[in-house]
Amino acid sequence: MQDVLIDSADGVMTLTLNRVEKKNSFTQAMYSACADALAQAAADASVHVVVVQGHATIFSAGNDISDFLNRGASTPDAPVFRFLRGLAAFPKPLIAAVCGPAVGVGTTMLFHCDLVYAGDNAAFSMPFVNLGLCAEAASSLLAPRLMGYHRAAEALLLGEPFMAEAAMEMGLVNRIVPPSEANNLAQSQARKLAAKPLPSLIETKRLMKKGQMADVLAQMDEEGESFGRLLQAPHAKEAFTAFLEKRKPDFAKL
Ligand code: COA
Repeated sequence: MQDVLIDSADGVMTLTLNRVEKKNSFTQAMYSACADALAQAAADASVHVVVVQGHATIFSAGNDISDFLNRGASTPDAPVFRFLRGLAAFPKPLIAAVCGPAVGVGTTMLFHCDLVYAGDNAAFSMPFVNLGLCAEAASSLLAPRLMGYHRAAEALLLGEPFMAEAAMEMGLVNRIVPPSEANNLAQSQARKLAAKPLPSLIETKRLMKKGQMADVLAQMDEEGESFGRLLQAPHAKEAFTAFLEKRKPDFAKL
């Protein structure tokens, strides 16, 4: 079974994260599959909208932690960066349906989606600091802008989770529905968009995003350099090992 299912119908390409036994955590192969699908969707005139969805119990547990532990230094053309840049620059409407935990990139990717529909069980978190890492996907720029600096500091420095209601109040989520309805709602909104004139959608999205696009891409590059450095440092290694050994990390000894 593929870890990312890709399906196209009626002008809508749907990416379904399908590694539920590992809580839809992202492997390099999954980033690659998503990056390739976004590139194809951007180029293919028959695709008007992309939907990213998970399972009713889990959106994504973020990056695969074993993969973090085993990975060498990431280069700018690494699958994760191709995926993140592809999301930020995606020219057509992008919709997410989020149920259950959305951890790390599971939350930060949402800053680049145009519409986000959440199950009432959605729980968002960006625990990069707890893992010895730093913000990515331009979340260090976009979270303070969207949430206000102090709420972003709670989420990014303390790594505190926030639930669907709080996410809707901040403007990260458009609507909250029962988990069994989130994917269907995303699909029906996608079909509404797919029936509209594509050049008008593309132009309107471009105009809404153009004021911050250069800053977003530059922030991603800077975050990527810091993230790569922190990934190799002892705090991160201790955090990853602790997760895999199902214990709390002990940073005091470092
Ligand atoms: N990377 C690798 N494996 C992961 C994972 C991740 N990010 N998240 C979960 N898994 C694995 C677990 O190790 C476990 O594997 P096992 O069955 O072989 O022991 C399996 O998925 C189920 O996870 P579990 O933690 O038992 O599920 P849960 O329902 O109790 O908790 C989460 C779900 C998402 C809250 C929890 O798994 C979690 O916090 N994951 C890590 C999130 C994280 O820090 N991501 C990195 C962000 S940068």
